[in-house]
Amino acid sequence: MKIVSLLLTLVCVMTFKVTHAKIGYFWHITDFHYDPLYTAQGDTRRHCRRADERGSSGHHRALGRLGDYSCDSSLELIQSALRYMRTRHSENVEFVLWTGDIVADQYSSNEDNRYQAIRNVTELLRMTFSSHFVFPVLGHTDPAPSETLTNLWSHWLPMEALQTLKNGGYYTIEQSHSKLRIVALNTNLFSLGEANGVHARRQWEWLDQVLEKATTNNEMVYIVGHAAPGSDSRYNAYSVDANTKYLRLVRRHARIIAGQFFGHLHVDTFRVIYDKEQPVSWAFLAPSVSPHHDPAGSSNPGLRLYKFDSDNGKVLDYTQFYLDLAVANRAGAGAGAGAVAGAEWVAEYNLTQYYVLRDVSAESLHHLADKLRIGTTQEMTMFYKYLRAYNVRHESADNCDGACAHQHFCAITCLEHIAYRQCVEAAASALAASGRSASLTAPLVNMILTLIISIVVL
Ligand SMILES: *[C@@H]1O[C@H](CO)[C@@H](O)[C@H](O)[C@H]1NC(C)=O
Ligand SMILES: *[C@@H]1O[C@H](CO)[C@@H](O)[C@H](O)[C@H]1NC(C)=O
Repeated sequence: MKIVSLLLTLVCVMTFKVTHAKIGYFWHITDFHYDPLYTAQGDTRRHCRRADERGSSGHHRALGRLGDYSCDSSLELIQSALRYMRTRHSENVEFVLWTGDIVADQYSSNEDNRYQAIRNVTELLRMTFSSHFVFPVLGHTDPAPSETLTNLWSHWLPMEALQTLKNGGYYTIEQSHSKLRIVALNTNLFSLGEANGVHARRQWEWLDQVLEKATTNNEMVYIVGHAAPGSDSRYNAYSVDANTKYLRLVRRHARIIAGQFFGHLHVDTFRVIYDKEQPVSWAFLAPSVSPHHDPAGSSNPGLRLYKFDSDNGKVLDYTQFYLDLAVANRAGAGAGAGAVAGAEWVAEYNLTQYYVLRDVSAESLHHLADKLRIGTTQEMTMFYKYLRAYNVRHESADNCDGACAHQHFCAITCLEHIAYRQCVEAAASALAASGRSASLTAPLVNMILTLIISIVVL
C-alpha cells in the first residue's frame, strides 16, 4: 500500500514537472506606416507634411513631434516605440512578429524611396533586436517580393525561408528548441486582385504541404500575416474564394494551430473560428503603431508582448502597451528640444485579467464574444471595455450604438463573408423592429436577436 502511494506521488511530481510551462515572450508589432515626410510644422490636410509656400497660410496648429491622430508615423514615434521595447529585453523575448505596412502609402510612389525607408526601419529594428530574430511579413503597402527585399532581411531568416520569401513573399521557420513552427503568409495573395495568380496558387499548395507536414511531425503552428480573414464594416481583405479556402484550411488543421496573428485594421480585436458550432481556433489582430486609420479614424500607438509556453507554443496571455499620443505630445512640447523624452509607453491591459479569461483558447474567446452582445448592463460594460481597447483608449471609441455593437459581434464570430452580412442584417432588422437603436435592453428583443444570430452562425 505504502509503495503504491509513494509511486503515485512520484508519478504526480513527475507529471507536474513535465507539464510545467517554459515561459517565453514574443512581440507582435505591426503597421508602422512610416512617413519620412511627417513634420511637426506640417498640415493635417496633407498627411502632416509641410504645405508648399503658396496656399498654406493660416492653417497651422503646431503638431506633436511624435505624431498626430490624423497622420501616419513620424520617425520619432517609431524610435520611441523601439526604445521602449528595448527596455523589456530582460523578459526572455524570443522573437518578434512584424506584420507589414512598413511605409506610409502616401510617402512616395518611387520604388527606390520606399526601399530606402524600409531599409532605415529594418536597420532600426536590427539595432534594437541585435540578438533576436524578427519575422517580417508583407502588407499591402509593402513592395512585391524581390531579391532586394530578401537581401534586406537575410540576417533574420534561414536559406530555405529566403528562397520562398523571394519567390512568393511567404516562408516557414522551425523553432530549433521546440515543437513550434511559424508560418508567415503573404496575405496580399489572398486579395481579389491577386487571388487567381500563379503565386497565389503556389502559396496555397505550399501552405497545405507545410500544415500536413507539421501534423505528421507533431508540431504546433503559428500563422502570421498582414490581413486577417473575415469581414468588418470597412473591408474584406480576402476574395470570397480565398476567404473560404483559408477558413476551410484552418478548420482542418485547427488541432495544430496554436495561434493566428494579424494586423492591418489598426485596431485591437480578435476573431473566433467555428467548425459545426464549435469554436476551434482564434486569431488576434494587434493595433498599429501608426495613430491613423485608413480612410478615417484614429487610435493610440500600440505594441503587444505575448507570453507563451515556448515548448509547445501555447499562448498564455499578452500585455498590450500603448502610448497616449496626446499626453506624450503635451509632455514633449514642454520639454523643448529633444522632446521625445516626454513619451511614456505604458501597459494598457493584460488580456486574461482584463476580460477575466480562464485561458487563451477558442472556447474562452467564444464566451467573451458572447458577452460582447448587447444585453444586460453587465454585458454592456464588457462591450465598452472591448471598445476602449479596440481604439487603444483613443476617445473615438465611445461612438458606438446598438447596430455598431452588433457589427463588432458579427465581425468577431462570422468570418464567412455571407454569414457576416446576414449577421449584420439580422441585427439591423431586429433593431428596426424594436424601434430602438441605441440601447437594447428588452430581454425579448435580445432573445430573438440571439436566436437569429445563432441560426446565422450555424
Ligand atoms: C534613411 O537614413 C539616412 C541616413 O540616416 C537618411 O539620410 C535618409 O534621409 C533616410 N531616409 C528615409 C526615407 O528615411
Ligand atoms: C500585466 O501583468 C504583468 C505581469 O505579468 C504585470 O507586471 C503588469 O502590472 C500587468 N499590467 C496590467 C496593466 O495589469
